[in-house]
Amino acid sequence: MKNIGNNQAGRESFTTKFGVIAATAGSAVGLGNIWRFPYLTGENGGAAFLVIYLVFVLVIGIPVMLSEFVIGRSARKNPYGAFKKLAPGKPWYLVGLMGVTAAFMILAFYTTVAGWTLEYLYQSVTNGFVNKDGAQLSLMFSEFRSDTWRPLFWFLIFMGMTAGIIVLGVRKGIEKSTVIMMPLLFVILVILGIRSLTLPGSLDGLRFLFKPDFSKIDSSAILDALGQVFFSLSIGMGTLITYASYFPARDRLLSTSFSVALTDTLVAVLAGIVIFPAAFSFHIAPDEGTGLVFVTLPGIFQQMPGGAFFASLFFLLLAVAALTSTISVLEVIVAFFVEELRLRRKMATWIAAGTVSLLGMMCTLSWNSLMEGVSFFGLNTFELLDYTSANILLPIGGFFIALFVAWFFGREKRMAELSNDGSLKAGYIPVYIFIIRFLAPIALAFIFLNGIGLLKM
Ligand code: PFF
Repeated sequence: MKNIGNNQAGRESFTTKFGVIAATAGSAVGLGNIWRFPYLTGENGGAAFLVIYLVFVLVIGIPVMLSEFVIGRSARKNPYGAFKKLAPGKPWYLVGLMGVTAAFMILAFYTTVAGWTLEYLYQSVTNGFVNKDGAQLSLMFSEFRSDTWRPLFWFLIFMGMTAGIIVLGVRKGIEKSTVIMMPLLFVILVILGIRSLTLPGSLDGLRFLFKPDFSKIDSSAILDALGQVFFSLSIGMGTLITYASYFPARDRLLSTSFSVALTDTLVAVLAGIVIFPAAFSFHIAPDEGTGLVFVTLPGIFQQMPGGAFFASLFFLLLAVAALTSTISVLEVIVAFFVEELRLRRKMATWIAAGTVSLLGMMCTLSWNSLMEGVSFFGLNTFELLDYTSANILLPIGGFFIALFVAWFFGREKRMAELSNDGSLKAGYIPVYIFIIRFLAPIALAFIFLNGIGLLKM
């Protein structure tokens, strides 16, 4: 593998192109693709949702991602430090600060679900689903979720694994682990896809995923699709500003953004190909909501030949996908602590993981009698963090990130970053600029205000 790494004094960077893509696509590919995307698609009418999702990836997702790359690689700092450096004395650093706050919120609820995947991996390996019908599996899930120690235990294990990788640093931790985990994830997905497609009646599931029914689409489905694009691509909060700050100077930002978006979309669609044909084959409704992969799928697995094996593979897949994402979110906070508070990496990691865990434990206990009474606008702690971060903070972050690069960054600096100091042609730049100047911010503002009910279409 060609080494394209460049060492900036005192700052680590990824060493190979594959490392750049594995780490960044690793951040993007996660529970968002395998847990969140299928249930949102299931609830919002299948293929119609997929079509809207794809359009948003192209016209908003990729341009915002590229903008984060431009900011991160040119500043070579955490999101807060990057805005401070690029716009000294201006309030833009607030966008970075919002990103660090979003990182706390996302890591808290995300690691809760990541912990559940470990419990379900354990159950699969020990044959815990055997002879349980749908009602019993549903009860099993709700009893586990409302338990005290079990979910907390898995939460802390997962947070420990995340911190264990981050402590090792950018190359030895993030790059080294993701270049192993990402190919593994693909292999597992393909095996599961083949299993699902060879079940009798699987075609109905494919039809659901690929034949659009636009009557299910309303403004909240559109906001859900937008929120999902941001969440799934890890954009809008500076995760990719942070990762791009470790990209080698010679990395082609546009090609990286396409590779990452493509990988992410492919995994989401493959996850749909695993889940929907299996659900239809066993006559199970695809709109189970958040419980889809924890209730519906175990029910399906235990009815199929070799079910325990495939269930174990599936939950291993979820855990691996989640881990390559949690490390990227923790890295945002750690980079901020190291660069702004001048902490050593080891200290920064454990303080970050410790403080996030306090919030995370409240999320984990959202269904427990201890936290059950706590609700805001009818949402429990977990749901509140999920909804506000994906549907509110990330789109707002994306809006300002696009505007910043479009209007305040400086034409020459932007050009230098996109063309690697003139060594690439970068003929797409006018289209990109048009999108981030007008199309993306207007679309974002419109969908956002409409989705939260401030504007009625
Ligand atoms: N993109 C991740 C997923 O789809 O699971 C989740 C995520 C990671 C969101 C990092 C935001 C982020 F900054």
